[in-house]
Amino acid sequence: MNRNLALEFVRVTEMAAIASARLMGRGDEKAADQAAVDAMRAMLDSVDCQATVVIGEGERDEAPMLYIGEKVGTGRGPALEIALDPLEGTTICAHGGYNAISVMAIAEAGCMLHAPDTYMMKIAVGPECKGVIDIRVSAKENLKRIADAKKCRIQDLTAVVLDRPRHTDLIAEIRSTGARIQLIGDGDVSAAIATATPDSGVDVLFGIGGAPEGVISAAALQCLGGDFQGILQPRNAEEIARAKKMGVDDINRVFKIDDLARGNVMFVATGVTNGNFLDGVIFKPWGAMTHSLVMRSESGTVRHIRAEHHFDKKPRY
Ligand code: FBP
Repeated sequence: MNRNLALEFVRVTEMAAIASARLMGRGDEKAADQAAVDAMRAMLDSVDCQATVVIGEGERDEAPMLYIGEKVGTGRGPALEIALDPLEGTTICAHGGYNAISVMAIAEAGCMLHAPDTYMMKIAVGPECKGVIDIRVSAKENLKRIADAKKCRIQDLTAVVLDRPRHTDLIAEIRSTGARIQLIGDGDVSAAIATATPDSGVDVLFGIGGAPEGVISAAALQCLGGDFQGILQPRNAEEIARAKKMGVDDINRVFKIDDLARGNVMFVATGVTNGNFLDGVIFKPWGAMTHSLVMRSESGTVRHIRAEHHFDKKPRY
């Protein structure tokens, strides 16, 4: 996979971020998401690749654009698979909160889990804790291992958890260890990346969130040298059947980071609203400024790209 492709793909998340950021704070999740989807879909066809969406806006009958299995790109160039979320954190964007991003993970064909649109129990950590976590043991035990690896006290650790009733017991368990907790309303991809971002102050992500977001998070952590594990949490027989149809034979399987995203993985994200590691879109009289992250697992390169977009020269926006 040509390394310059990553720089082509960042144009795609930049445009999706600008489009949805225009609708920040309007209280309209659907409109913000649609704007991001439209922009991402349009820009993707300018990239020289033959790509298939493996994680997208849903099944073909549910999503008119960027559905699972949709072919994108110019049709010239490498055969790729893309896991994308044009607006990760639709509610965040609609409320003007923190950590809404536009995001894509790109890998060679066959290198990403084709995750069903169900839930996943997750644990994510940064590079110092690679290899020490185990999703099958308690949060308490994982916190002990993380503290040992980081040579600090458990009380000094910060765990991020989605603020959901399903996490009541998990939150109580973490509190019983003395570790600090950051409860977030949405956006566990950003939280997973924050665990591997120096100075974010975040040490671990625990809890149940979207399975597609789990694959995207694993791709990001592959680039950052972090670690991730997940177990699917289907809510009903239909979701189990859907998972099996997508090739998941053992529904209780522990997916390690290499099971979710492996090989030469590229990851691009652009901030929609301000967040832990990306600034949000700022509009100016002449256009907009964006802040993006571009990473490749093969080289380990992490690029922060700040771009000025001059709308008079880019008529689309
Ligand atoms: P959307 O951008 O699709 O709204 O997802 C936001 C999110 O918070 C994810 O980051 C997370 O994985 C998932 O939703 C959690 O799902 P739920 O809101 O159903 O608990």
